[in-house]
Amino acid sequence: MSNSSSPASQAATIDVVLSPPEIDLLPQRDLAGSTAVVFDILRATSTMITALAHGAAGVWPVRTVEDAWELKKSHPDALLGGERHGDRIQDFDLGNSPLEYRENIRGREIISTTTNGTIALRAVEHASSVLAASLLNIATVAAHIASQPNSREILLVCAGTFREAALEDILAAGMLVSLLPDHPLSDSAQVALALYRQDASDLPTALRRAKNGRALLAKGRAAEIDWCAQASSFSLLAVMNQEGLVRACP
Ligand code: MLT
Repeated sequence: MSNSSSPASQAATIDVVLSPPEIDLLPQRDLAGSTAVVFDILRATSTMITALAHGAAGVWPVRTVEDAWELKKSHPDALLGGERHGDRIQDFDLGNSPLEYRENIRGREIISTTTNGTIALRAVEHASSVLAASLLNIATVAAHIASQPNSREILLVCAGTFREAALEDILAAGMLVSLLPDHPLSDSAQVALALYRQDASDLPTALRRAKNGRALLAKGRAAEIDWCAQASSFSLLAVMNQEGLVRACP
């Protein structure tokens, strides 16, 4: 007689890392058997998903500008993309607006460094599976996770803004929680779900309320917020392999 509480029949617990200080501890966390999903809605993972959706060959997240230039030496045809304080880094080919990654990148490799998103991706690179997620591809991410019943844990990582939690990342994590019913939830996962349930009816307004959203509005970049708020626009997975993120069809 099967035991419904046997580990094999138990769905993986969903946990949510809410802020950068917690992310700093992740390299020491045992992530064997875990599926890590990184969110940086405004704008790193939204931009990475957009780039892969428009044919980029891959996105290599690196922690520092120096790391980016170093990697460029061995990949001279790669494009350099990213931001510091929201603006394109000097002498880089691209900034970190998703709107920049819709043309002229087909087949190109992109080396990316951003304030929080690429740091978060590297902090969980030792997990058994690492996905970059955004509102743009969230339904595909949910379907993929639902098809992987053997994960020990599902760890949703909210990249944040500088050293603070980012509302938009927690909101997106909560949306993914809402798309994965029947999983045990940590307290932080319940917090994220509650935030999503509060704002589910108007994601663009919620993103405008966030600190990152207000900073983009102040720079006249409302179109980027609206792009990042488009839920489930792309049916693609962005999966980390040895070098970086590549497109995996669901
Ligand atoms: C980040 O990585 O913190 C964000 O992507 C910053 C940005 O795009 O402005």
